[in-house]
Amino acid sequence: MISLAEYTAEVGYGHRKRLAQFFTPPAIARFMVGWVLGGARSDRIHDPAFGLGAFLDCAPADCAFTGMEIDDRVVDFFIRHSRRRPESLACGDYLLDFGRRHANIVCNPPYLRFQKFLNRDAVFAAFCERLGIRLSGYTNIASAFLVKSVSELENGGRLAYILPSEFLNSGYGELVKDWLSKDGHLDSIIEVECENEAFGEVTTSVCIVLYDSARRIDEVAFRKISSLAEIDGVMDIPPLRSVPLSCLDVSGKWGVYFVAAGDRVQPAMRHLCPLSEYGRFSRGIATGANGFFVLSRSGMRRNGLSAQSCVPCITRSQQLAGLTFTDEDFAALAEADKGVFLFSPGEDPDEPSRRYIRQGEEKGYNKGFITRHRSPWYKTEERAVAPILLNVFSRSGYKVVRNYSSALSLTNFHCFYPHRLRDAYVDWLFLYLHSGVGRKLLSLSKRRYGNALDKFEPNDLNDALVPTRAFFDSLGQDVLTELMDAVISGKDPSLRLDEAFAPLVADAEAGDVVPAPVKYPFRRREPEQMRLAIEKRKGYDSRKAGTAKKVRRGE
Ligand SMILES: C[S@@+](CC[C@H](N)C(=O)[O-])C[C@H]1O[C@@H](n2cnc3c(N)ncnc32)[C@H](O)[C@@H]1O
Repeated sequence: MISLAEYTAEVGYGHRKRLAQFFTPPAIARFMVGWVLGGARSDRIHDPAFGLGAFLDCAPADCAFTGMEIDDRVVDFFIRHSRRRPESLACGDYLLDFGRRHANIVCNPPYLRFQKFLNRDAVFAAFCERLGIRLSGYTNIASAFLVKSVSELENGGRLAYILPSEFLNSGYGELVKDWLSKDGHLDSIIEVECENEAFGEVTTSVCIVLYDSARRIDEVAFRKISSLAEIDGVMDIPPLRSVPLSCLDVSGKWGVYFVAAGDRVQPAMRHLCPLSEYGRFSRGIATGANGFFVLSRSGMRRNGLSAQSCVPCITRSQQLAGLTFTDEDFAALAEADKGVFLFSPGEDPDEPSRRYIRQGEEKGYNKGFITRHRSPWYKTEERAVAPILLNVFSRSGYKVVRNYSSALSLTNFHCFYPHRLRDAYVDWLFLYLHSGVGRKLLSLSKRRYGNALDKFEPNDLNDALVPTRAFFDSLGQDVLTELMDAVISGKDPSLRLDEAFAPLVADAEAGDVVPAPVKYPFRRREPEQMRLAIEKRKGYDSRKAGTAKKVRRGE
């Protein structure tokens, strides 16, 4: 048995992390190999991301096992420590190796987000040229592995993949879902809800994809395991949901299929529309060097910085404790010497600011990834104040705050900027986002990351379902005033809100049900960098936002 601790001691954790070497637990490897060989016509298996051979370890002795691995150090360690040998083990980059077909494939591909996909351009060009596949810029390595493997599977073969489940709910995943479902061979997707138990070192949610090219499959089974012990029997119990292939829409969010029937929330579509009809969420300001840009009042004083060179800014999620945030709350944080000022010296920095910038350069703050791509490096994005802030990561439900202050926010909050003629609905939207009904309906749009950590990207929020104007209008101005008065006086009107918003959840019996999953109202394919560049060129929409205030400099 190969020791992970010895391997980590030899190569270092940094090396493992760089190559995403997080190995498959034996129970899952056994299940995947067993399923592949259970119905396959051949006893040959290929593992395109071999690592320390977790799948080979579980394969029967007579299985003709082949592998590929990019890292010669892991291969070298494997050869020195394992008694078992695959039939062949090639050293190379699977994503750039073309022209082979495989009888069966099992794989735990590297989990690296698209930003870490270093040879992305070469891989994307090769996919285009060799497979005729145009990957979206957001595609992570694991999804690229999966698409390639499906294209290389021989007729009659089986494929089992364990990979991050993000593709099920995100725009780039459309192509992946298309490849999986278009020929009618997708058997099951199993959500591994116990990702902590399975991959303690990784913070991501994972699923197992089972694909059987020997069979025509009319209904895809969505299954879930909550502990590793459940993996052995997972195929013996009825799935959470069997979805006819004809109903599987690749542009929808498939995550909804893992919710048991009783817990499923059914949006009453006649009262709902995408949030983007009212405005849009953008991520907060990314400074690229909070150590330089975030200052407390005493820090400003120490550096001789004037009130004109700094703007109020929420820099940590904990700084917003209640449902509302006012200038008085901000003043209390400033008084307590919290880091709530953003260095923002403008076009023509004064002398103390120039001195502070020089100090920053001496400390290398201008050489960070974000700062070195900005000109000048110390000029952060210009933003208006957002009237609603929603925190990015949450373990026990997101936090949403009605911002009445003049403070901006860093990336720990997403910032809502209403369209010019929609600012009258800001309070309603805030109340809806805070309500239990709103949280349930928003959960249809969220991505689930590991460790029960929920994460919304701004575009998940922009696509989320919110009440139509007609619905809000029907509730009446008096109700709005009463609810906001309660919020402002420190009361939480949750019960009242759930009553008001109850009609937004459909009565399944009455047939007012949208066929899950919820679709993306808009397609967004451009990579983050491109989006940011476009935003920068156009100037933020947020500047036009009606209720958005211009930021007051200084204290
Ligand atoms: C998540 S580990 C899985 C290893 C092993 N199959 C298992 O299940 O435990 C992914 C492996 O893929 C390797 N890898 C990363 N990028 C690769 C590439 N482009 N081509 C082939 N292997 C790659 C990593 O070095 C790592 O060993």
